[in-house]
Amino acid sequence: MSRGFWAVVPAAGIGERMQSDRPKQYLQLEGKLVIEHTLQRLASHPEIKGIVIAVDQEDEWWPTVSIVISCPIYVVHGGKQRSHSVLNALGKLSTLVADDPWVLVHDAARPCLRQEDINKLLSALSKHDVGGLLGIPINDTVKRTSDDDVIIGTIERRNLWRASTPQMFRLALLKSALHTSRKQNITVTDEASAIEFVGLEPVMVEGHTDNIKITVSGDLALAQLFMQQQRGEG
Ligand code: CTP
Ligand code: MG
Repeated sequence: MSRGFWAVVPAAGIGERMQSDRPKQYLQLEGKLVIEHTLQRLASHPEIKGIVIAVDQEDEWWPTVSIVISCPIYVVHGGKQRSHSVLNALGKLSTLVADDPWVLVHDAARPCLRQEDINKLLSALSKHDVGGLLGIPINDTVKRTSDDDVIIGTIERRNLWRASTPQMFRLALLKSALHTSRKQNITVTDEASAIEFVGLEPVMVEGHTDNIKITVSGDLALAQLFMQQQRGEG
């Protein structure tokens, strides 16, 4: 079976928490749009054969964007939830490939992804039976509270992670796991949850902490700082 790698980029969110005049993926960052950085970082990886991106059906920004990238890109409409957008993209990908490639699902809102982290994910997982994702170990002490903010417990932080993206699974498995979750009305906020729901065990691969998801307005300045830092390293 072919070991090709494809990227799927959910970009159909409206960026409610960012409170800007346009979805956050279309904001400027270091002289480009956020989404441009994200797509270029995926496309410039030599193993990525192509990208399927999901944008909102009523997205008035995407058609005005001219992005130059070095691999084929296919566009589908997004859905109500992130997982629906991903499923639509996987459906399109199924029509493009004859085999069962690895798929790296990566948020449009994570423009600081390092080539080094893509490499790490690929080498950790490409011989694995299930797949997995990039994540960051939690450093803080973690508390659980009641609804009125009273602390009801401290959670042992050992083995606790923040899940990020890319999340890497085989096309057929991911599609069927997301379908199953959807049919059973399970809300999944990442691909790994769907895989866990069907009883499989994805692997966590430690990534860099600068792979942030731009969520609120302060995150843009942070992303800018991380990009400057990455240029300095390079
Ligand atoms: N996304 C998507 N389809 C949706 C919702 C989200 O493709 N129905 C995408 C977003 O565009 C983003 C990624 O999933 O790239 C992660 O979602 P999130 O950070 O929550 O983005 P938004 O949903 O746009 O932001 P918010 O939750 O603040 O509205
Ligand atoms: Mg959201």
